[in-house]
Amino acid sequence: MLLSYLRKRLRLTGTKYGCGGGGCGACTVMISTYEPASKKIRHYSANACLLPICSLYGAAVTTVEGVGSTKTRVHPVQVRVQYHCERLAKCHGSQCGFCTPGMVMSIYTLLRNHPEPTSEQMIAALAGNLCRCTGYRPILDACKTFCKESICCQRKTNEKCCLDQEDDLFDKEEKVSTRLFSTDEFQPLDPTQELIFPPELMRMAENQPKRTLSFHGERMTWISPVSLDELLDLKASYPKAPLLVGNTSVGPEMKFRGVFHPIVIAPARIPDLNVVKCLDDGLTLGAACSLSVVKDILTNAVVEFPEEKTKVFSAVLQQLRTLAGEQIRNMASLGGNIVSRKSTSDLNPILAASNCMLNLASRGRKRQIPLRDIFADGVGNNTITPEEILVSVHIPYSRKGEYVSAFRQAPRRENALPVTNAGMRVLFEEGTDTIKDLSIFYGGAVSTTVCAKQTCRTLIGRHWNKQMLDEACRLVLKEIALPGSDSGEKVDYKKTLIVSFFYRFFLEVSQSLKTMDPCHYPGIPMEYRSVLQDFKTKMPQSIQIYQDIEPSQSPQDPVGRPVMHQSGIKHATGEAVYVDDLPSVDGELFLAVVTSSRAHAKIVSIDTSEALKGPGVFDIITAHDVPATNEFYYSDDPEIIFARNKVICVGQIVCAVVADSDDHAKQAAAKVKIEYEVLEPVILTIAEAIQHNSFFEPKRKLEQGNVDRAFETVDNIIEGEIHIGGQEHFYIETQSVLVVPKGEDKEMDVYVSTQHPAIIQEMVAASLGVPANRIMCHVKRVGGAFGGKLLKAGLLASVAAVAANKTSRAVRLILSRGDDMLITGGRHPFIGKYKVGFMKDGRIRAVDAKYYINGGCTPDESVLVAEVSLLKMDNAYKIPNLRCRAYACKTNLPSNTAFRGFGFPQSALVTETWITGVADKVGLSPEKIREINMYKENEQTHFKQKLDPQNLIRCWNECMEKSAYYSRKTAVNEFNKQNYWKKKGIAIVPMKFPFGLGTRYLSQAAALVHIYTDGSVLLTHGGIEMGQGIHTKMIQVASRELNIPMSCIHFCETSTTTVPNACASVGSAGTDVNGMAVKDACQTLMKRLQPIINKNPKGTWNDWIKEAFEQSVSLSATGYFRGYNENMDWEKGEGQPFTYFLYGAACSEVEINCLTGDHKNIRTDIVMDIGCSINPAVDIGQIEGAFVQGIGLYTMEELKYSPEGVLYTRGPDQYKIPAVCDIPEQFSVSLLSSSQNPYAIYASKGIGEAGLFLGCSVFFALRDAVTRVRNERGLKKTFALNSPLTAEQIRASCTDDFTEMMANNESASPLLGPHL
Ligand SMILES: Cc1cc2nc3c(=O)[nH]c(=O)nc-3n(C[C@H](O)[C@H](O)[C@H](O)COP(=O)(O)OP(=O)(O)OC[C@H]3O[C@@H](n4cnc5c(N)ncnc54)[C@H](O)[C@@H]3O)c2cc1C
Ligand code: FES
Ligand code: FES
Repeated sequence: MLLSYLRKRLRLTGTKYGCGGGGCGACTVMISTYEPASKKIRHYSANACLLPICSLYGAAVTTVEGVGSTKTRVHPVQVRVQYHCERLAKCHGSQCGFCTPGMVMSIYTLLRNHPEPTSEQMIAALAGNLCRCTGYRPILDACKTFCKESICCQRKTNEKCCLDQEDDLFDKEEKVSTRLFSTDEFQPLDPTQELIFPPELMRMAENQPKRTLSFHGERMTWISPVSLDELLDLKASYPKAPLLVGNTSVGPEMKFRGVFHPIVIAPARIPDLNVVKCLDDGLTLGAACSLSVVKDILTNAVVEFPEEKTKVFSAVLQQLRTLAGEQIRNMASLGGNIVSRKSTSDLNPILAASNCMLNLASRGRKRQIPLRDIFADGVGNNTITPEEILVSVHIPYSRKGEYVSAFRQAPRRENALPVTNAGMRVLFEEGTDTIKDLSIFYGGAVSTTVCAKQTCRTLIGRHWNKQMLDEACRLVLKEIALPGSDSGEKVDYKKTLIVSFFYRFFLEVSQSLKTMDPCHYPGIPMEYRSVLQDFKTKMPQSIQIYQDIEPSQSPQDPVGRPVMHQSGIKHATGEAVYVDDLPSVDGELFLAVVTSSRAHAKIVSIDTSEALKGPGVFDIITAHDVPATNEFYYSDDPEIIFARNKVICVGQIVCAVVADSDDHAKQAAAKVKIEYEVLEPVILTIAEAIQHNSFFEPKRKLEQGNVDRAFETVDNIIEGEIHIGGQEHFYIETQSVLVVPKGEDKEMDVYVSTQHPAIIQEMVAASLGVPANRIMCHVKRVGGAFGGKLLKAGLLASVAAVAANKTSRAVRLILSRGDDMLITGGRHPFIGKYKVGFMKDGRIRAVDAKYYINGGCTPDESVLVAEVSLLKMDNAYKIPNLRCRAYACKTNLPSNTAFRGFGFPQSALVTETWITGVADKVGLSPEKIREINMYKENEQTHFKQKLDPQNLIRCWNECMEKSAYYSRKTAVNEFNKQNYWKKKGIAIVPMKFPFGLGTRYLSQAAALVHIYTDGSVLLTHGGIEMGQGIHTKMIQVASRELNIPMSCIHFCETSTTTVPNACASVGSAGTDVNGMAVKDACQTLMKRLQPIINKNPKGTWNDWIKEAFEQSVSLSATGYFRGYNENMDWEKGEGQPFTYFLYGAACSEVEINCLTGDHKNIRTDIVMDIGCSINPAVDIGQIEGAFVQGIGLYTMEELKYSPEGVLYTRGPDQYKIPAVCDIPEQFSVSLLSSSQNPYAIYASKGIGEAGLFLGCSVFFALRDAVTRVRNERGLKKTFALNSPLTAEQIRASCTDDFTEMMANNESASPLLGPHL
């Protein structure tokens, strides 16, 4: 593939690997081709991970390196082509920076084609790019600067937009700012200076006759013919060889499902397969046309032809708009989509329903068949023979009296395969509503596209009315039999969608009939009409408000200013180096792991003979090769490097193959045969762990007041439980490590993507049985971590180190996305059970809660997560009588680990759930119950720690005000009265986020600062840069303390050689603790320099340094911070585990589609108290990024396992994290002004995690919308919603006739959902 060619052969490492399957966009490049006939150059974005190099003959590839580089910045042309990168960086559009080159390339390609794009085009261009850090807002801000439209918030309150209303935002004394970047600094866009298409390629295309090309690889042959006859001959000779066009279907099959094709035929250059013909009865499009080309052609046709003729085109376009991302649409072909016959094809149902025809050819034979025939028996190819190829597709014009529609529902609105889709067409007898012809096709439901043939036949001759609708639903449900699905969606949901789609079609057609003849046809009620509009992604409008620095602050002092991420430009140019970007070391080997396929079993034998015979295989490493520690006992149960005699989860590492290439290692790993003997019990779920009494110790409990007595005195009691699914970290850079033995004294350099170099050093040293002083661990930067690169990274580094030790070679281990998701665990699935006692007026008097978390097979930090969930469960509320217990369940799932928020996002969601439960019972609004029970004045938590909730109340009130909560609630009510199938919901949620790590030693930190004789400063500390901008902030701190510009200070890497025993960068504490240490080191240096400065106060920094050196004053200092004085006595249930509290509130508004369960995030307003921000751009970025990750946790990210404990969701195609389409259309973040924090550096507060929980405001807004649906329909008042609150759950909760139709026909899914 192009990706590995670029990265490994050409050493162009700007293009990143994120998933290998076209789902994340990290590998985006621009492909340019030249068509001699039309003399046109076409530029398009593509995923390098799926792009075979052989397909690029004659094409030009532009990677991020071609767009700009800091090295060549001085050259004027390069300065100009640099602007894409520059704007993304200056708008703070990168955090960890791993997704950034891909983003740049998507934007760059768009700008090459449209120098002044519309915001719609911009949003569409980014649909195929995922970012796990930023929450997209700053990326889109950068994009807006290229668009024609204004870059302001466009929220014209008081006739003023964000750009000129600053003065009105707060009273005049508190000067606030809303600008995180200045557009004046941007270089202008100058399309005339772009790189040109290589003239030699143009000449080649013009002068060289096209000839058949064939390429031979180690295992495969690629043949690319140029004429149809040649192709048909080839197909006759190799009937099994696939025709490869976009490789978006064959590629993933070969990569992930072990399919192998020794010969592939690439027909893309054959003119017949690229035709575009406009015939009397429709359009004929070549099968090799890309989906983007098809989209463009149909878009033009819709404009050109009368509406009556283009209904099929519009319906196909409807699907194409959200089908995959732009990169995939640029590569994938029309023919490939059709002939693959995947059930998830979005095109087949609508093309089949529209009577499209396929033009097929084989040697000596041409024929035309209806597309619908290729699904005749529902199981695949019974009509296209292996020798036949699809030449072109005929899409007919629609006729008078014909109505055509397409529908789809996917786990994410864009860039996600559908759960169910449909294509429907009806033709009426002229001038009537009598059905003459009806076609209904569904996709996503079973293994291929299916036709509701019987239903359609029965309904011919019927009128388009309610009776027909009832019968149609009944018939269609009977006809479309759904077996248990293999991707985890509940069968009921699919069935509901099947009938809901038909109902939607019914409404659409009824309304169209009315438009045609208003006298005869009544149309549909006004309140039903809005459901005919699908949710669309719009360019979000956003505003960020923070307190300006004091006017008296020195202009050079960067603290408090929105300084750009120190690596921002390098992120955007692709020059930022991550582990796998490091050049290969002489003799380096690649490692692939072999993992267990059983959840609990004895290893009977491991047969490595076949694997060892594989090409390039060097060795196989097992537990026997570990020189010293294979099991680490941090508690009673061990963390294990290699499974020794038994396996305890699917995905446990059993052994590893080292070979001369990544491919060879993986191929050999697949050949290792392990024989198992299944052991009992296999415990997967929390329920099973409870049943088997399988827990990690200790169990924890906190109690305050007299709970039992309080329950006796309350007016009312509710009891319930909520299940919260786990969450995958989905850092875009997968776990990566490069271990280099140094050849003497058992020294090893370990380059690793981790948040905790010290533990890597400790584990590697222990596994090899060498002292820690031989292991040098280096971390330049990490491409996202979120808690997932701690202990798990240590185990993986040990695997690589053991291999390096055995082979005496450098070993590189880069987990594939699938392996990463399978092996490394994530956020703990959680069950919260509660009993809550309260008074009629809403005062909550007593709570008794139990939390169970699914820890997986080893302890990791599960007990700590359980403890934190208890300590933070009160969220913002004072509960006088409280008892809560937490249990970490030991199961046979991969071990779960730390994840941003660390238990708080789960336990506080439980709390907010019972808050809404109480509100429902007493008949007050949830916000009233929240206010009534909120901490009010100096009070104590349930473990007797004092807190002053003043800023909590300020955040709440400001959020109420800024979001205009009550007036918007009225507007929501009004909307809901006028709309039946669409409903809005709004919710406001407060937050108290305690900051602290519970013990002093966990927050100690150190720094090392060197001043060189030229005055430049090298700074290092123990913190890890993983996107949170810690190095930028530390340079800001050093700049203030040393009183020199930031440009004089450099940060190279975090390393165990410079700062020993550094604590992990976790718990939002990095800036707090390392900032103190950096400040300490700088102050030591300044103390030493002070006498010299005093003597020569007018001297420059360089003068003083020179003088200091000459006076033999040491210019190197360490700084140290002992840590916060935190403690917790679990026996007594009291302590001071936290140093201070962050506060916040978020108000979110959503709109749901009751027929599909789909929703749109309309608006979110966040107010956060983070003290005095050191860098508002970085801090707001943290809040927004965490918030969007929270939206993912609470509304969409769903892990699915088989009943045997095999994780199904192993890539971005199955596991959906939020994309551009998921962020609120209006998004505002305000930092609470005048907030001080005496405990942390420069009165700031640690902000990394807190914002995540606020994502639950969307959960509760959805709940509000569902409640309104249920109230209107007179349904049961109490209902339970679990997290994630997916479209499936929303649909099921909006009970109606369609869901009722399922109720009698219960068919349980054979899968374990996310609630383990
Ligand atoms: C990340 C991702 C997201 C996606 N999302 C969606 C989505 O939302 N909706 C959706 O519908 N699809 C989606 N797809 C699927 C994608 O649309 C199809 O894979 C694509 O259309 C197949 O076209 P291709 O040219 O890449 O096929 P290839 O992989 O090149 O070939 C596919 C198959 O078709 C056969 N074939 C191709 N052309 C011909 C021909 N002319 N005659 C005979 N046989 C032929 C080949 O032999 C091969 O078996 C997604 C794919 C990816 C990777
Ligand atoms: S790596 Fe290519 S799309 Fe993810
Ligand atoms: S900045 Fe986008 S993934 Fe980290």
